[in-house]
Amino acid sequence: MLHEVLRSGQTRVRILGVESSCDETAAAIVDDGRSIRASIVASQFDLHRRYGGVVPEIASRAHLERIIPVIREALAGARGDLASIDAVAAGVRPGLIGSLLVGSSAAKGIAWALGVPFLGVDHVEAHLAAAGLEQDPFPRPALGLVVSGGHTSLFEMEPEGSLRRLGRTIDDAAGEAFDKAAAMLGLPHPGGPRLEELARAGDPTAVRLPRPMLGPDSLDFSFSGLKTAFRLAILDRATGADDVRSVAEGLPPSTRGDLAASFQAAVVETLLRKIERAIDQGEGRFRSLVVGGGVVANETLRQGVAALAARRKISLGIPRRDLCLDNAAMIAAAATARARRGEQDPWWLPAEPLSRWSLAEVASA
Ligand code: KG4
Ligand code: ZN
Repeated sequence: MLHEVLRSGQTRVRILGVESSCDETAAAIVDDGRSIRASIVASQFDLHRRYGGVVPEIASRAHLERIIPVIREALAGARGDLASIDAVAAGVRPGLIGSLLVGSSAAKGIAWALGVPFLGVDHVEAHLAAAGLEQDPFPRPALGLVVSGGHTSLFEMEPEGSLRRLGRTIDDAAGEAFDKAAAMLGLPHPGGPRLEELARAGDPTAVRLPRPMLGPDSLDFSFSGLKTAFRLAILDRATGADDVRSVAEGLPPSTRGDLAASFQAAVVETLLRKIERAIDQGEGRFRSLVVGGGVVANETLRQGVAALAARRKISLGIPRRDLCLDNAAMIAAAATARARRGEQDPWWLPAEPLSRWSLAEVASA
């Protein structure tokens, strides 16, 4: 068992991570939660594009076809054999249930066959763990922001590794808002990166859009009002029309660029203001700001958090751009501390569609 290996003097912990919560099938081999030996991501964008979003059944079938080849490729890339793996980790929540089952069952099977521990990982926590990959560890307590297609949450990351949620979105996630705004502009799924591309030539001050703050103390987020304001701003540019997409597609490129840049500025500025508010409320407690999730691939947000952290004189933990998007290296990184302590999850650990925090909300509702 791992703790016996560690007791015998081995200090390196090598984890095989598996991720399949949505539309990426991924496997990675990571040493000590930091050094990526191999990371393979097979994306399914092409399979879902014609539907304008992820179709769960198509996703789980594609995971089933790809999971073993992807794991094999990661092992080959790491030039390691299975015998060098100390533990196997998989994302077990939140996500599409059929998709989660494919990756977590494969991971359990491999762990069982190798006689090493299996560890189930929360995908949202893993997005924050990505900031520790290939870079120095960030000091805690830290303020963590996860902005992905399914989540927008602020956390206090406590010194011993646990998370305490400070705020969350009450409607759309930031990435979802990007995707919906992009769809209004007629851009293909997934829209976030396309909207960023279109925004590059635009003027972020051209269209007035709200920065939803939800009262003076709230650390929650809401993007649905901003989405409606964006829709109206597009419709305003044509008289009597109500099909937002055809109006947007008929606009000159410079206007489309202005709309995209203004929307991006509204989301990014709202996120930055909330981060700043959380830092103020922390009264000097936070030693670093840690960000993660697909939206952190956005250059305007990356520059914004870098400037904010510098101004507030705290460290910044920000993953490499490719590690912001769903990957398995972050799953391995998130499992490392538990593996080092010799912990393991039972074989019957279920896959769950919601995160622990969403389940707590359901329970208290
Ligand atoms: O973390 P992620 O890969 O998957 C989830 O866990 O949801 O995040 C995907 C989300 C999508 O909504 C995508 O549009 C958004 O991240 N995204 C971006 C950018 N790259 C990905 N949003 C804005 N700008 C980007 N460059
Ligand atoms: Zn994700």
